[in-house]
Amino acid sequence: MENKVEERGGWGSKFGFLMAAAGSAIGLGNLWKFPYLAAKFGGGLFVVVYLAIVVLLGFTMMLGELTIGRSTRLEQYSAYRKLNKKWGFLGALGVLSAFMILSFYSVVGGWVLKYIFTFLTGGVKGDPGAFFGTFSGSVGEPIFWHALFMIATLLIVLGGISGGIEKASKIMMPLLFLFLIILVVRVLTLPGAGAGVAYYLKPNFANFSLDVVVKAMGQVFFSLSLGMGTLVTYGSYLNGTEDLQENALTIPALDTLAALLAGLAIVPAVVAFGMDLDAGPKLLFITLPKIFDSMPLGGIFGLMFFVLVFFAAVTSSISLLEVPVAWVVDSKGWTRKKAVFFFATVCWVIGIGASLSLGVWDMKFLPNMGLFDTLDYLTSNIMLPLGGLLMSLFYTFAWGYEAPIAEIKKGSTFSLQSFWKLSMMVLVPIMMAVLFLTQMGILKL
Ligand code: TRP
Repeated sequence: MENKVEERGGWGSKFGFLMAAAGSAIGLGNLWKFPYLAAKFGGGLFVVVYLAIVVLLGFTMMLGELTIGRSTRLEQYSAYRKLNKKWGFLGALGVLSAFMILSFYSVVGGWVLKYIFTFLTGGVKGDPGAFFGTFSGSVGEPIFWHALFMIATLLIVLGGISGGIEKASKIMMPLLFLFLIILVVRVLTLPGAGAGVAYYLKPNFANFSLDVVVKAMGQVFFSLSLGMGTLVTYGSYLNGTEDLQENALTIPALDTLAALLAGLAIVPAVVAFGMDLDAGPKLLFITLPKIFDSMPLGGIFGLMFFVLVFFAAVTSSISLLEVPVAWVVDSKGWTRKKAVFFFATVCWVIGIGASLSLGVWDMKFLPNMGLFDTLDYLTSNIMLPLGGLLMSLFYTFAWGYEAPIAEIKKGSTFSLQSFWKLSMMVLVPIMMAVLFLTQMGILKL
């Protein structure tokens, strides 16, 4: 018989934890949203604003989440309840967000698998726009690939913390960086790439507005996996000797590096081929295949690119699945196996609805939004910022700062202590409130 502690598991090494946490952060958000936002909002200007917000907000929130997890060693619902009985709802909100994000995220993961298969079998034939439109709008095929992606996620999470999540991340994350660097080198040696690099990185200060700040804030949140307790859950598998401050600096640094490299691989290529920088699915699934199509050895680079996107997506989706799984394992006594099968299946079924909402199913849940867009909108624009705001209030009004600071000091000196406290108490709530109100359309900038 296994006892409770053994069944819960933990990270095997500090490097493994770092790869898993960076794996959660680095995902589709870095690859399709950051390059587009940077190009749209003044290039280097956006990058500077983004970096400032990563430091001010990303570091603070990440350290905040990791500390709650490590000090309780419990999944987030139980963690918040243990620290303050009234705050369990915040953990529950996070579990719900994870569940909703995974339902649409895994649909896109399925598309990525379809494109890997396509590049393995000769590339996109004909017009990539029509190819993507027909595929994503059809009924059976996306659901099939979506199922495969969910099975991959399920198999990894089934392996547990060190044997599944950590092992997969330790292999996939270094490869992801390697592939990304190879692609950057390839793109930068394209004729005309220089103009694209200038377009991407030259700050255009005339574009500065509060809107840029708000967009950058939203992006920092999603990209760093903040606001729903992924890092509380991952932090709960730490053993108490880690340097949390250093991790809260390194994880965002790696995530930002991946975003910058993705931008360097994508923006100059798009500019060199004289195409439009579109946000979202179009950029990855239409514009880039067009570019690979007309590039020497494009088939190989296309394959490499989509494998890299798959690594990014699956190391994020496992972190999303782990959140509800940890919840029922810790607080309801389920076995990991039962929990993994249950939640993967439920998210797959909701994902079917999300997938169909891009084609044949035209029911609207919010004005003009089918299920896919509704899940995306509610989580990214409302639930994550709300989760961030509430966590800061939780620190200030429920948990206080003494216990967390002592927890952080267990593993290291805490040189940024005053900054962190001030930032959590003052900066985070103000910035989150602004973000939240603009996202909801109450405050107009
Ligand atoms: N950060 C991931 C990305 O950039 C997505 C993600 C994983 C996420 N877990 C999360 C986003 C938790 C918000 C909250 O694609």
